[in-house]
Amino acid sequence: MLPDPARIEEAAALLRAGELVAFPTETVYGLGADASNPWAVAKIFAAKGRPASHPLIVHVSGIEAARPWIAGFPDAAKRLAEAFWPGPLTLVLPKAATVSPAVTGGQDSIALRAPAHPVARALLAAFGGGIAAPSANRYGRISPTRAADVHEELGDRVALVLDGGDCEVGLESTIVACLGDRVTLLRPGAVSRSQLQDVIGEVVDTDAASPRVPGRDRSHYAPGTPLSIIAAGMLQAEVGNALAAGETLAVLACSAAPFASPRLTWRCLGNRPIEYGRALYAALRDLDRASATRILVESVPGGEAWSAIADRLAHAAARGAWPAAAGVVTDST
Ligand code: TXA
Ligand code: MG
Repeated sequence: MLPDPARIEEAAALLRAGELVAFPTETVYGLGADASNPWAVAKIFAAKGRPASHPLIVHVSGIEAARPWIAGFPDAAKRLAEAFWPGPLTLVLPKAATVSPAVTGGQDSIALRAPAHPVARALLAAFGGGIAAPSANRYGRISPTRAADVHEELGDRVALVLDGGDCEVGLESTIVACLGDRVTLLRPGAVSRSQLQDVIGEVVDTDAASPRVPGRDRSHYAPGTPLSIIAAGMLQAEVGNALAAGETLAVLACSAAPFASPRLTWRCLGNRPIEYGRALYAALRDLDRASATRILVESVPGGEAWSAIADRLAHAAARGAWPAAAGVVTDST
């Protein structure tokens, strides 16, 4: 979907006035504010109900526009930006002294991303500055991949929603920290570890020495209906037993439904990871509306092409492990 110049100008003017604008990126929709205006940034946290300690990604048009936000461009980061920007890659870098702690959650690093979606690029060009934007969902919920999902999530908490159609990637960006001598994969996404390693050599996994990523440690990307992952070979038996016990079920699978029941909603997303990833969040939203007692998700294949999907499903399932009755606050961005 191509940007409408009048809407883009309207959106840029709202950002300049310190208002919130939701906009599409190729990964998911973002809830944007002028990253240089701490009052505008505070509105993001209020609209999402997100803890102020969770840092935001600042969206920029490219490498030159990234420079004012950082204390230096480490060589590895620069090579990654040259290879993958604009695109679904976020770089965590040492922050410039001038960056507001409202954006970085008080950390001494900053996350930067140059999105590829034409509407996001047009907005960045018209606005001229950095746009701080988390995914445009309320705290703890699934990221929106369609403009209608943003309206459902945020309603009148956002001044304007730019409609850019359905997101092509459908999963949040790959996040890589380039701090010190190590390059660490903080969140898997469409840019894979081997693509990163082809450019810069070794990329390590998160460990005790890695930067903190507030919001990724517990339940995340979760529908309201309890969700569990079932080994592919066990799914049919599990569904059969649950239906026999009177349950109403929603199932997300790589394979077609083996049988039909009025108490069974079955979504098959196929066995191609790019198509599966693109459709995942919309499917979870639909299944969440199926009045099911549980959402069962057939485990996805192993391997790098599925790693971002497996990661998001594991976070979505984690909600079950943190029962509200125990007073545990789920932690999600
Ligand atoms: O695809 C995406 O990345 C989308 C689109 C809108 O760009 N954005 C997105 O933002 O997913 P959000 O806020 O929902 O997730 C960003 C994650 C959070 O877990 C946050 O804690 C982490 O990035 N993060 C941000 N700044 C960080 C930093 N300086 N160090 C470590 N983690 C950081
Ligand atoms: Mg998020």
